[in-house]
Amino acid sequence: MSDLEFLFNPQEIAVVGASASPQKIGYSILNNLILSGYPGKIHPINPKEKEILGLPCHSSVGKVKGKIDLAVISVPASLCIQVARECGEAGVKGAIVITAGFKEVGGEGLKLERELQAVGKKYNMRLVGPNCVGLMDTHTPINASFAVGFPEKGTISFISQSGAMLVAILDWSFQAGLGFSRFVSLGNKADLSEIDFIESCTADPNTKVILVYAEDVTDGEKFVRVCTEAGKIKPIVILKSGTSTAGAQAASSHTGALAGSNRAYDTAFRQSGVLRAENMSELFDLGRAFSTQPLPGGNRVAIITNSGGPAIIATDAIEKSGLRMARFNKPTIDQLHDNLPAESNIYNPIDVLGDARVDRFRFALQMAFEDENVDSVMVILSPTAVAEPEETAKTIMEFKDKYPHKPVFAVYMGGKTLVESKGILLAGSVPTFTFPESAVRALEGMVRYAEFRRTQDEAPSTLLLPPQVDKNTVKATFYDVIKDRRVLLLAHESSRVLDAYGIPVNCTYLTTTADEACRISQEIGFPVVLKVSSPRIAHKSDVGGVEIGLHNRREVEGAYKRIMERVSRYMPDAPIYGIEVQKMVDDGVELIIGMSRDIQFGPMIAFGLGGIYVNLLEDVSFRLAAALNNRKTIEEMIAETKAYTLLKGYRGQKPADMEAVIDAVYRTAQLVQDFDEITEMDINPLRVYNCGATGLDVKITISLD
Ligand code: ACO
Repeated sequence: MSDLEFLFNPQEIAVVGASASPQKIGYSILNNLILSGYPGKIHPINPKEKEILGLPCHSSVGKVKGKIDLAVISVPASLCIQVARECGEAGVKGAIVITAGFKEVGGEGLKLERELQAVGKKYNMRLVGPNCVGLMDTHTPINASFAVGFPEKGTISFISQSGAMLVAILDWSFQAGLGFSRFVSLGNKADLSEIDFIESCTADPNTKVILVYAEDVTDGEKFVRVCTEAGKIKPIVILKSGTSTAGAQAASSHTGALAGSNRAYDTAFRQSGVLRAENMSELFDLGRAFSTQPLPGGNRVAIITNSGGPAIIATDAIEKSGLRMARFNKPTIDQLHDNLPAESNIYNPIDVLGDARVDRFRFALQMAFEDENVDSVMVILSPTAVAEPEETAKTIMEFKDKYPHKPVFAVYMGGKTLVESKGILLAGSVPTFTFPESAVRALEGMVRYAEFRRTQDEAPSTLLLPPQVDKNTVKATFYDVIKDRRVLLLAHESSRVLDAYGIPVNCTYLTTTADEACRISQEIGFPVVLKVSSPRIAHKSDVGGVEIGLHNRREVEGAYKRIMERVSRYMPDAPIYGIEVQKMVDDGVELIIGMSRDIQFGPMIAFGLGGIYVNLLEDVSFRLAAALNNRKTIEEMIAETKAYTLLKGYRGQKPADMEAVIDAVYRTAQLVQDFDEITEMDINPLRVYNCGATGLDVKITISLD
C-alpha cells in the first residue's frame, strides 16, 4: 500500500508564496491551514515578509529550522522549478503545486512540467498537481488548499481530476449534510495519480468509501491491479467523463466496432470491482449509502409505504435492476394480515395506506427487519395530512440502530413539508431520496459491490496451464505480412497463426487458378467453399466474394470464375491474390471470439453470438485478456451471453462442446498477450459442434511498427 502520510498528516508544512494580501491564493492556503485546526507547524515562505497571519515568515524553505514534510507551492509558474529544487534540497517529502501554466497550456508549459517531474524524481519528492486546488483531511485535520471552507468530518474520500468539481462539491456538501474524510485535487498528475490516492485512501482507517471523478486513467494495467486489491477492502466508485466512441468508429473489425474505449473502461472497472457512477448525483448517492449503511446480505428488498403509486414505480425500478422484491415468509404475512387494516397490501410492497401514522410504519418496519427473506428495507413516504414524517424518520433511525446488519433507505417524496424530516434522516445517517429510482440505483450499487466482495472471498479459480504454442510460426507469418507492407492478414495466414496456437480453425488454402482450386478441393474433399483473397476486401460476402456448398470440380470451376467477375466489377482497384479454398463444414452454433486493443487497458477479448448479425445483435461480453487465465472467469464471460443458452442446447438440441469454447477463448487471450503487434482480431464465426469447434473466418490486423 502506498504511504502518503506526509501529505495527509505532515508534521511541518511550508507554504511557499504565502501572502499577506487576502486576495491572493497564497493567503487563502495559509488561512485555510490555520482555520482547519492543523496541529503541526506551519511555515509561511515569502522573501518580502517577516510575519504573515501571526506566523514568522522565512525567505526560503532552506532557511527553516526543522524538517518540513510538505510544501504547498503557490508562486508563478516561472518560479516553480527553482522553488521545487529548494524544497528538494531541504528534504521536503511531498509538494503540492497549486500553480497553473504547465502541461495544460502545451508548448513551454509541457517542458516546464517535465522539468518539475525531473526535480521531484531527483530529490525523491512526491508531487501533487501541478494545476490543482490542493488536498484536505478532516481527521488530521488539514486543509492544504485554496478552496472555500472545510468539509464536515466524515468517512468519504473524494479524489477529483477537476479542481472546479472539487470546490463545487465541497460547497454543495454543506447543504447536503455530507461529511468527508479526504478531498484530493489531482491536477495534471505529473507524479501522483488517482491510483496512488486510491491506494492511500484504502489504507486510511477514516475512509469507508472512495469516490473518484476521472477524465482518464494514468496506467490501465496498474489501475486494474490496485483497484482489484483495494476493492476487497472498501468500495471504489468512479464517475468517468468523456465517454466518446471515437475509437470504436475507427475500428475495422466487428470486435473493434463493438468495443471502443468506453467499453474498455466499463470492462476494467467491472473486473476490478469498481462501481461506475452514471452521473454526479449517483456518485454521491453511492458515497452516502456506503458511508452510512452495512453491505446488504443479498438483493431482496422490502418496501414499506403509505403511497401506492410511488411504490409501484419503486417496484418497477427494482424489477429492472439486479434487485428483487423480497417474498415474506408465512409468519410475517400472517402478522401483517392480523395487525394492519384490511385494505392494506400485506405482500411486498407493504402498503400501510394513506391514513397511516407512525405506529403502522413502526409495525411494518419491525416485520420487515425481522424477516430473514429481507436483505434491505426501503421506506417510501408521501406527506399526507395525517402522515408523521418526523416521527417516522426517528422510528426509521431506531430500526437502523437496532438492526445494524440490514441497510435501510428512505424515500421522502416531497419538498417543502419534508425539509425537517429529511434533515433528521440525513443527520441520522439514513440515505434519503426524493424519488425512488435514485434510491434503487444506489441500493443496486451496494448489492453489486457486496457480490464482488463475496466472489473475492471465495476460493480463487485455479489458473489454467500455459498452452503449448508455436510462437515461431506466428512470428514468421507476421514477418512476411509486414514485408508485404500489409496490416491485414490474408485468410491462409490467419489460419496458420490460429493453428500455431492450437485454436481450432478450418484450414484455408490460397489458389491462383481454377485448376488449382479444383485440385485442392479434391484433396481436402467436397463439398468446399471458395472465397476471394484480397488485402482490400474485409467483408467478402458483401462484394459477392464467397460461394459455398460446391460439390464437384465443375461447380468449383464455375464459382471461381463468378467470384473473380463479381469482385472485379464491384472493386476493380482491389488487388486480388487469388481464391481461398476451405472445406465446407457442418452447421453448428456460430460464435465470435474477438480482440480489440485498448490504449489504456491493453487487449480486450469479446465473446458472443457470431455470424453476420454480430453488430446488430450485440450479444457480446468483454474481458481484459489478462483476466482470462482461469476457468471461472472464462465460464462467467460465456454465461453472460445469450449464446450460452444455445451452447447448453436450446429446444432439444444437443449441448455444444463447452470445453472447446473455453479452450479457444483461453488460447486467443494468450495469443493477443504474446503478440503486441496484433491490434484487432475476429474469429467469426467459430462454429461449435457437440464435439469440437472450428473457426471459419479469421481476421487479424497487425501494426507495422
Ligand atoms: N518564494 C516564496 N514566495 C515567493 C517567491 C519565492 N521564491 N517569489 C515570490 N514569492 C511571493 C510573492 O512575492 C507573492 O507574495 P506577495 O503577495 O507578498 O507579493 C507570492 O509569492 C505570490 O506570488 P505572485 O507573483 O503574487 O503570484 P500570484 O499569487 O498572483 O499567483 C499563482 C501565483 C496563484 C500560483 C498563479 O501563478 C497561478 O497559477 N494561478 C492559477 C492557480 C490555479 O488555477 N490552479 C489550478 C486550480 S484548479 C481549478 O481550476 C479550480
